[in-house]
Amino acid sequence: MAEMAPKVDIEKAKKTAEQVFGLLGGALVSAMIYLGDRLGLYQALNGAGAVTSEELARKTGLHERWIREWLHGQAAANLIDYKGEGRFALSLETAVVLADESSPLFLGGAFCAIPQQMAVLNLLPESFKSGVGLTYDQMGPEVNRGVERLLAPWFRTQLVPSALPKLDGVVAKLHAGAKVADIGCGSGVALIEMAKAYPRSQFHGYDIAKIPLARAAENAKSAGVKNVILHDAGADPLAGDASYDFITTFDCLHDMTRPDLVMKAIRKAIKPDGTWLIADVHGMPTFEQNLKENPLAPFLYGISVICCMSSALSEPGGLGLGTLGLPEPVARKMTAEAGFTRFTTRDFENPINAYYEVRP
Ligand SMILES: C[S@@+](CC[C@H](N)C(=O)[O-])C[C@H]1O[C@@H](n2cnc3c(N)ncnc32)[C@H](O)[C@@H]1O
Repeated sequence: MAEMAPKVDIEKAKKTAEQVFGLLGGALVSAMIYLGDRLGLYQALNGAGAVTSEELARKTGLHERWIREWLHGQAAANLIDYKGEGRFALSLETAVVLADESSPLFLGGAFCAIPQQMAVLNLLPESFKSGVGLTYDQMGPEVNRGVERLLAPWFRTQLVPSALPKLDGVVAKLHAGAKVADIGCGSGVALIEMAKAYPRSQFHGYDIAKIPLARAAENAKSAGVKNVILHDAGADPLAGDASYDFITTFDCLHDMTRPDLVMKAIRKAIKPDGTWLIADVHGMPTFEQNLKENPLAPFLYGISVICCMSSALSEPGGLGLGTLGLPEPVARKMTAEAGFTRFTTRDFENPINAYYEVRP
């Protein structure tokens, strides 16, 4: 007897359609957040009370009809509160997430990358065919700026006052004058925060991408720090002379084509009593656990294809770890294989990152 063809459960399919439509809505609301950030609309609303679209248009010098449509969408997305009679207000809670760049919860900056991240989609079909991804330079300046603005709030508010004092003996060395390297330094925000706090120490930033290195040089200049030295790691790699007291890698090992080789280079560069601080994405040990227990998994796998795994496969033979590719067991194993013997986890209260204090 012929097998019955499986039947579509229409109710279930309708639910899936609803879910997919919601995701499409999320993409478009993200685009609207991009515009709000770019046009300074959240800042203009912050502390302004309940305003009309005419008042916001006047304040920002923009056209009222466009502002009104944007406000309607933001209210529909529950980001801005509709107060009735054509008035809209930004709550204090949304302001710390979307308007106040000095807040540790600020996320608005990440949205500046969206147009270039979406443009990268035109290049990725070729990567799916060839297997080779894009470097951070190939992704473009806005993607790098998005990384900078996404990660900067933690560096500016937590790194020096809360995180470094929890590491064994590091702050005393930094006060006295230490040699420090930040590998995969990007636009240098972490380096600059540390350089300002510890003027007797020298901070060496290494990156292989020219766009973030140029931005790091600009950032160091405008911060007025003289103790930051930047290196193009491709031409001027980390010396293996056991001279570094403290080495950091913030959110970059999983982006590297050969993190195993970089770990071995760090082992050679660090003093026998030195400390290496790793920050990497707080992934679960297995895909199955990420599927069940990691609410950020859809976002993290998406950013992996667009950014992190792409970078980690940007050369043939890349290990391709990707955004969720360095959970604690993998970090323990790889650092041990690179010759480190001590590995301690540290909780610096960051929902995205895990931190490891690693020593020879
Ligand atoms: C996600 S960004 C993080 C930047 C910075 N650490 C931060 O927290 O803002 C990853 C950085 O790692 C850099 N990178 C990738 N492979 C590298 C390598 N082999 N050596 C040094 N930097 C590398 C990329 O160019 C990029 O700037």
